[in-house]
Amino acid sequence: MEYRILGNTGLQVPVIGMGTWQTFDVRGEAARKNARAIVDTALAAGANFFDSSPMYGEAERVLGETLQGRRAQALVATKVWTSSDREGRAQVQRAFQYFGGYIDLYQIHNLVNWREHLAMLEQLRDAGQVRAIGATHYSSSAFGELALVMQTGRITAIQIPYNPLEREVERTILPLAADLGLGVVVMRPFAQGALTRRSPSAAELAPLRSFGVTTWGQALLKWILSDTRCHVAIPATSRRERMAENAVAGEPPWFGAEERALVARLAQRSM
Ligand SMILES: NC(=O)c1ccc[n+]([C@@H]2O[C@H](COP(=O)([O-])OP(=O)(O)OC[C@H]3O[C@@H](n4cnc5c(N)ncnc54)[C@H](OP(=O)(O)O)[C@@H]3O)[C@@H](O)[C@H]2O)c1
Repeated sequence: MEYRILGNTGLQVPVIGMGTWQTFDVRGEAARKNARAIVDTALAAGANFFDSSPMYGEAERVLGETLQGRRAQALVATKVWTSSDREGRAQVQRAFQYFGGYIDLYQIHNLVNWREHLAMLEQLRDAGQVRAIGATHYSSSAFGELALVMQTGRITAIQIPYNPLEREVERTILPLAADLGLGVVVMRPFAQGALTRRSPSAAELAPLRSFGVTTWGQALLKWILSDTRCHVAIPATSRRERMAENAVAGEPPWFGAEERALVARLAQRSM
């Protein structure tokens, strides 16, 4: 697993982490056991960066349970997501309970109520309970406002969508992040699974084999991470074998322009 410095956060992150939207919003013994097995696999592979949010139902709680007794091995990125200051403070207190009293990267989800939440998170960072502050948005329609928040100088990381079908961040957000030295967390590497429904053939993927790529999922992850302005991609999965498969994509060598163009072409055709 390659590790990169998450911009000005200073955090050392694996290039492959894990998301928890839907996949960790689970109840019941069997589902929780499965979640633990996925986290076991992630940690064993060095993919120790985990993203969650109070928007994801049970996910924060379930992730917290899987990290019991081994919190220090993980980097936890979660979010505050509410228009209410009071509920925002309550979300933070719940997250501290789940994750051992501190959060590595606290993000403002979808920029909701960002001015107020930013002030609260800055206080928590100064008190040592939050290591770094970030902001996220999934929609290119909000990238103007995201750029504004980036330019305040008050956040050190962003989380944005980036995959061969969603390349809007290439226009302003990625260049700005690089200029400002911000960490970049990549959500939706598989376009919420839309990109992995149909896989190119083994023959089509053959030119990528010398890059350690044996599956379509790995090709998509390497496409993202070959742009070194991106620091960590967070694919979500409900299957432990896929967590292991995805982690393999965190090994160099990285693609050049030719391989990236090939993956972009195959992605268009897989839709
Ligand atoms: N979606 C958003 O708008 C959004 C917004 C903010 C933050 N995020 C964060 O970003 C994370 C990732 O985004 P996402 O969950 O929307 O989507 P994603 O990671 O792009 O795609 C997840 C889907 O890909 C499948 N998958 C995973 N590994 C695979 C592989 N190797 N081969 C084939 N299929 C594979 C999973 O199915 P299986 O479970 O069957 O493996 C799942 O259905 C979220 O979990 C969340 O933490 C997302």
